[in-house]
Amino acid sequence: MSMQTRTEQRAARYVSRLIRGMPTTDGAGVELTRVIGQPALPMLDPFLLLDAFRSDRPGDYIAGFPPHPHRGFETVTYLLAGRMRHRDNAGHEGVIEPGGIQWMTAGRGIVHSEMPEQQQGLLEGFQLWVNLPAAHKMDRPAYQEHAAGAIPEEQRDAGVRVRVIAGQTARGTRGPVLQPLTEPLYIDVELPAEAAFDELLPPAHNGFLYVISGTLLAEDADGGQLRLGRDDLGVLSHGDAVTVRAAEAGARFLLVAGRPLNEPVARGGPFVMNNQAEIRQAYADYASGRF
Ligand code: FE2
Repeated sequence: MSMQTRTEQRAARYVSRLIRGMPTTDGAGVELTRVIGQPALPMLDPFLLLDAFRSDRPGDYIAGFPPHPHRGFETVTYLLAGRMRHRDNAGHEGVIEPGGIQWMTAGRGIVHSEMPEQQQGLLEGFQLWVNLPAAHKMDRPAYQEHAAGAIPEEQRDAGVRVRVIAGQTARGTRGPVLQPLTEPLYIDVELPAEAAFDELLPPAHNGFLYVISGTLLAEDADGGQLRLGRDDLGVLSHGDAVTVRAAEAGARFLLVAGRPLNEPVARGGPFVMNNQAEIRQAYADYASGRF
């Protein structure tokens, strides 16, 4: 531990930037909201993309995401409603159900499809892309899949409920997903009306709040109050503690944080590497069936 770390003062994290989700279309015509990975927030190291999908109109999601490749990072799918069938070219197949998580390490490469396992009804969830460091981009693909029942729920005072998918809360609840390369925290928090929530994060980790429903009140850099609504993302400043409060109607939100990689990022569609030569190699490997 350096002297600087040892003498660092505890600092409250505030919302340094408020990002509004942007409607877009991806896959074979899926309507979604892109929150990270859009012009206002191209990335938040190590997070490369955050998409939210929420629709009860089959036309918005039925086309799904037919077979496509990935290399160099992880895709994290968290479903709140509906069912998604996942299938890859190595024979790995399964259905993600409400409350379940699929943390897929694409590593050197997979080709997979992600298709709604329903003809109608609500489909709601999120996909987050988490980068891998250069030394691990070509690792063997791996899955961490957990159904709702395997995700611990922390009950706090005033009816506050915290589902812990990855990482560990300050109160010691540990999620089932392990990723020492970026040490992610990924929690889903439900606050009753006007309830407060606080959590500690490693000071240098990048983090954000993303509002699923309701209204969340958070401080800005000047101590003013920001109101974050559905599909709003608040980028957190560096510091230790994050403190927020729900407005009158309560709030549900994701709190996600991770250790930045601080490496060059080269993106090419479904591939995220460190330079353009590696992106060209990924396209060549895919075209010649080496995934
Ligand atoms: Fe995918």
